Amino acid sequence: MNKPKAPIDHNNTVITIKGLRKSFEDYHVLRGIDLDLYQGENLVVLGRSGTGKSVLIKIISGLLTADHGSINVLGQDINHITDRELQELRIRIGFSFQNSALYDSMTVRKNLEFPLVRNRKGISKKEIDEKVDEVLDAVGLIKTINQMPSELSGGQRKRIGIARTLILNPEIMLYDEPTAGLDPITCIEINELINEVQEKYKTSSIIITHDLTCAKQTGDRIAMLLDGQFQRQGTFDEVFDTNDERVKPFFDYNFIK
Ligand SMILES: Nc1ncnc2c1ncn2[C@@H]1O[C@H](COP(=O)(O)OP(=O)(O)OP(=O)(O)O)[C@@H](O)[C@H]1O
Ligand SMILES: [Mg+2]
Repeated sequence: MNKPKAPIDHNNTVITIKGLRKSFEDYHVLRGIDLDLYQGENLVVLGRSGTGKSVLIKIISGLLTADHGSINVLGQDINHITDRELQELRIRIGFSFQNSALYDSMTVRKNLEFPLVRNRKGISKKEIDEKVDEVLDAVGLIKTINQMPSELSGGQRKRIGIARTLILNPEIMLYDEPTAGLDPITCIEINELINEVQEKYKTSSIIITHDLTCAKQTGDRIAMLLDGQFQRQGTFDEVFDTNDERVKPFFDYNFIK
């Protein structure tokens, strides 16, 4: 597949997780997660509904706290940083939410300006306009600048959601089911956008998906979450070259044999 590729720096990790555990009352969701994300890498996380994929990236971005384990993100131990440091760290992490999370009462332009005005004190009107144009251009949607989110298609909303995270020049992108609910052609376009973002903005990314076309097209590496741990990791072919009954149905469902 057509996949532009920025080099991966295997000597440089942007996220290192060791022994991460997270429970909600007596439900043990994450039971010993070890993970390295390398600079420039696209890591795809697969797993059934409810296995803790969203919980994992919420912990990485400081929206939830872990019960045990060490979590180093961009050189900071997020279990031991101040609220202010966490706030600064979160600006360096782009979070593309499962539901796009746009403000429905604001135009596309206002949605994009919002994070800049809030996080870059003293930024000039000219800089804001240039940045808004740049990210809209990156996602191919300049023409929607004055539209309301309700006037956009699902695929366009996803793109604007991604543009809104890009506007702060994140070093890490976390995508929570970027292609959910989209038609197959639009899915492929979003996959291409994820790869273009990696190339242009030199991001390192975690992409959560159920969509194996997305996994195959965007993932440099795949990690499969089973029973609270990453039990299979590798390239797409390595992960699915197995008779494991917990893994095979994913493949069979996505690629009818
Ligand atoms: N804030 C919370 N309080 C209590 N339980 C929670 C909370 N967040 C998540 N959970 C539980 O943790 C489990 C994992 O949730 P999570 O959202 O990570 O699943 P997921 O793998 O992202 O699933 P899906 O593919 O459906 O999005 C679920 O059983 C969920 O109910
Ligand atoms: Mg989820």
